[in-house]
Amino acid sequence: MNSLREEIEILKKEKQAVILAHYYVPDEVQEIADYTGDSFYLSKIAKETDARILVFAGVSFMGESAKILNPEKKVLLPDPTADCAMAHMADKKKIQQMKAEDPDLAVVCYINSTAELKQYSDVCVTSANAVKVVKALPNRRIYFIPDQHLGSFVAEQVPEKEIILGDGYCPVHHQIQVSEVRKAKEEHPDALLYVHPECPKEIVEMADYAGSTSGIIKEAAGSDAKEFLIGTETGVMYELQKQNPDKRFYPIQKEQCCYDMKKVTLEKIRDCLRDETNEVQVDASVSEKAKQAMERMLELAK
Ligand code: 13P
Ligand code: SF4
Repeated sequence: MNSLREEIEILKKEKQAVILAHYYVPDEVQEIADYTGDSFYLSKIAKETDARILVFAGVSFMGESAKILNPEKKVLLPDPTADCAMAHMADKKKIQQMKAEDPDLAVVCYINSTAELKQYSDVCVTSANAVKVVKALPNRRIYFIPDQHLGSFVAEQVPEKEIILGDGYCPVHHQIQVSEVRKAKEEHPDALLYVHPECPKEIVEMADYAGSTSGIIKEAAGSDAKEFLIGTETGVMYELQKQNPDKRFYPIQKEQCCYDMKKVTLEKIRDCLRDETNEVQVDASVSEKAKQAMERMLELAK
């Protein structure tokens, strides 16, 4: 009787499949993935891979993004109910109204959004490339959706542009409190504070470093410090600890958990791969326009 891991390995070979996993999914899923990374890295891999099937260990906007970039491939989501609350926090009518009022306005859409929202946008960004992409756009006025916090992080670093912020947020990062950061700093006085730009501005201002999940991992590996307070989803601890066994990483608060990302399990990966179920479908007309916004991101972020 094969173990779950062995079953997945056999199925992967049989079906020419690869598993892409975000840093927020459970440790055992990151462990068996062919590629683990942040949203930017995973979208580049989704574009480049020649596998026949992509199993996306993440939430639905990630599976949709992989499908948009690879309409001819089969993209499977281990748990199709794993969704990102922020992905829905913008309004297509408002986007259309803003564009009608100012045809020179660029709509910049965080990749953490539905395919429907991407199709009304001029370009997508991830947390790893948002500053670079916004700087590279010819437009001076930007409507940044859905994440108000990533938008304000970009606005700070691109003062030459007028950035109008959407009102979305990630519930996991948005709830991190200044008082909790102070408390954690008292408990770990030697620790550096590294946070994700989905955190509120007050938290980013307190940080020694703010960047995407892969930015945090790279920065921690290059630092001489031995202790770190981490302001992002706790799944990232797996890679941090793996790369830095001699360093200590603490979450600011215990609740930094994305329950949707944790819905992805080895059993669900095995089942969707074996039965080729939970295939991601994106309507062709939506996909065509959303693809332009995603490919423009990949081009400008080069
Ligand atoms: P990155 O992968 O860009 O760091 O974003 C984090 C996130 O919230 C993904 O859902
Ligand atoms: Fe969405 Fe936040 Fe979960 Fe990322 S951590 S998938 S942004 S809810």
